[in-house]
Amino acid sequence: MSGLLAVVGTGIKAVGHLTADARAWIASADEVHYVAADPLTEATIRGLAPHAQSLSRFYAIGRARHDTYEAMTQSLLTGVRAGRTVCAAFYGHPGVFVYPSHDAIRRARAEGLRAIMEPGVSAEDCLFADLGFDPAVVGCAQYEVTDFLVYRRRPDPSAAMILWQIGVVGDLTWNPGRTNADNLRVLVAELAPVYGEDHVVVVYEAPQLPTCRARIDHVRLADLPATPLTTASTLFVPPRERRAADPAMIARLGLDGRRFGLAGAP
Ligand SMILES: C[S@@+](CC[C@H](N)C(=O)[O-])C[C@H]1O[C@@H](n2cnc3c(N)ncnc32)[C@H](O)[C@@H]1O
Repeated sequence: MSGLLAVVGTGIKAVGHLTADARAWIASADEVHYVAADPLTEATIRGLAPHAQSLSRFYAIGRARHDTYEAMTQSLLTGVRAGRTVCAAFYGHPGVFVYPSHDAIRRARAEGLRAIMEPGVSAEDCLFADLGFDPAVVGCAQYEVTDFLVYRRRPDPSAAMILWQIGVVGDLTWNPGRTNADNLRVLVAELAPVYGEDHVVVVYEAPQLPTCRARIDHVRLADLPATPLTTASTLFVPPRERRAADPAMIARLGLDGRRFGLAGAP
C-alpha cells in the first residue's frame, strides 16, 4: 500500500475558514499533524481527529526555524513512507509562507509517493477584505521581510507592497514576542528613501477568534520601530505615487488611451 501526504490549510479565522476538503482530509487520514495559531482551531482538529499531533512541539526558543522545519518534514514523511495517509494541517493557506509543507511534498514526490495540497484562506486574503484593497488596481508585491532586506529587493512606490513576518525581521530563530527594534530601524532606513519617513503604513493582524476584531494600525514609517508587533503582524505599504501610463504601449495594444487617463486619445 502506498502512502499519501495531504497538506491542507485551516484558514485564519477559527470559525468559518475550514474548508470541506480540509475537514474531510483531517477526519479521514491515518495520521494528522498540525500547526494551529489559536486554541479553537486546535480543538476543532482534535475533535475531528483525536489522535492528531501538534507540530509546534518542534519549536523551541532560540532554535533555528530551519531546524524546526526539517523536524516537521521528517515527522510528516515517516508515516507516508510507511504507507499511511498523512494529513498535515497548517493555519492559513498551507502553501503561503510555510516551508515544511512545500518541502514535504517535494520530497515525498521525489521518492515516488503521492502528495497533494489543498488551498486555504491566508492572512493576505483577510488583509484584502479588511483593508478594502484590490491588488488589481495598482498591483501588489509581497516579500518575506528578511528576504526583502537580505536580497535588497527594490520596491515599486507606485504599487502596494506586503511584508510578511515583520514581527521577526532579521531573526531566523523562534522567539515569539521579541521583535528586534534595531532590525526594524534597518527596514525603515531601506524604505524611507523610497517612500519618505512620513509615509503611512498599516500594521495588520487578521482576527482569529470570533470575538476579536482585525488590528489595523496606521503608523508613520519613522514610528515603526517603536510599534509593538507580534508573530501575526503583517505590514501593508500603500503606494506613494501614481504611475503614468505609457502611450506607446497603449497604442501597441490597440487600447483607448482615455481609459488610462490620456486626454484626447482615440
Ligand atoms: C509562517 S507565516 C504563515 C502564513 C499563513 N500560512 C497564511 O496563509 O496566512 C506567518 C506570517 O503570516 C502572517 N500572519 C499570520 N497570521 C496572521 C494574522 N492573523 N494576521 C495577519 N498576518 C498574519 C504574518 O506576516 C506572520 O508573520
